[in-house]
Amino acid sequence: SMQATDTRGTVLVTGGAGFIGAHTAVELLEAGYDVVIADNLVNSKREAIARIAAITGRQPAFHEIDVSDPSAVDKVFTTHRIDAVIHFAALKAVGESVAKPLAYYRNNIDSLLTVLAAMQRHGVRQFVFSSSATVYGDPHCVPILEHFPLSATNPYGQTKLLAERILADIVKAEPDWRVATLRYFNPVGAHPSGQIGEDPQGIPNNLMPYIAQVAVGRRESLRVFGGDYPTPDGTGVRDYIHVVDLARGHLAALARLETKGDSFTVNLGTGRGYSVLEAVAAFEQASGRSVPYEIVARRPGDIATCYADPTAAYEMLAWRAEYGLERMCVDQWRWQSQNPDGLG
Ligand code: NAD
Ligand code: WQD
Repeated sequence: SMQATDTRGTVLVTGGAGFIGAHTAVELLEAGYDVVIADNLVNSKREAIARIAAITGRQPAFHEIDVSDPSAVDKVFTTHRIDAVIHFAALKAVGESVAKPLAYYRNNIDSLLTVLAAMQRHGVRQFVFSSSATVYGDPHCVPILEHFPLSATNPYGQTKLLAERILADIVKAEPDWRVATLRYFNPVGAHPSGQIGEDPQGIPNNLMPYIAQVAVGRRESLRVFGGDYPTPDGTGVRDYIHVVDLARGHLAALARLETKGDSFTVNLGTGRGYSVLEAVAAFEQASGRSVPYEIVARRPGDIATCYADPTAAYEMLAWRAEYGLERMCVDQWRWQSQNPDGLG
């Protein structure tokens, strides 16, 4: 098999200091790719770059830039011979997107258009995009297949729908583009080294980081949003996927873009749903800490149940998730307990 010193090409990872981007950078470096990270650190820390290098023993190039700045992005493409782009850079807080729609449309759409325009100028045609299960809105049934109707109930989700539309139009107009649109379900967990993980600023919006902060003693108790959903225990059911599995899905997508000429859209999930209370119990088990909770009102905009049919990813990419909820919690706890205040 390939040795880490044989380069497999250079991948530009926008948003590569962030949660999923950093894990993907690690997998790319370990697989023998050269990695160039572009991130403005709006939701991440420079220390993440050092941690990626510490885990892999290889240094990614790093440009602290806003990827909606055309001249800054152009300079990245003239400095490095980029073969493919994985575009993670985006703002992702659903509630904040409702309060600040203009900032979300501006950042998420402008960054996409700027990166695509630079690729066009520099003749780079392989693009992997971070989409989200949020594009399915409130699905009529589960598991969710890629052909299900798309909708959005908040500006964040709208930016993902609009991005998918933009990409589809580009591929239609210029068939030499190779675009992988990856719809992530609920990424959680952390790298098994405990060196990188999710590091939310302020009060976590998402379940697993909140649970982890309760377990480590940073917060009093979890508020469970709704105990009266039509689910086995009344709490919301989601398809949690280990971030390392998710990162590897990007390498599988890239490998297909390199070998086949087609563009595609696939779910990246495990195909299994767990309730909020199951997630709490699994985290207590993994951490040996108790996670007190109270059941409160539903969170506006939440749906009862969401999990993927991951068959298409398996058939097209020969990829499937390996890790279960227990491992997700063990790895998230290692990260949380070794870095109780994140990356500082
Ligand atoms: P994250 O916030 O940890 O990472 C995003 C990174 O992009 C951050 O490091 C941030 O500083 C950077 N960034 C944002 N705007 C930028 C800009 N204009 N220029 C340069 N850098 C910029 O989030 P994440 O969880 O790693 O998410 C990565 C991608 O996956 C996002 O596109 C997100 O919408 C998508 N996604 C995330 C989830 C999830 O639950 N985490 C689910 C589905 C899809
Ligand atoms: C999971 C479950 C909550 C917090 C969001 C985005 C989605 C995607 C992934 C980017 C739900 C419950 C949560 C808490 C709780 N992101 N919960 N107490 O809402 O499935 O998806 O992240 O694309 O677009 O909407 O994830 O982790 O916020 O919630 O009870 O403090 O946990 O009600 O059932 P969600 P989540």
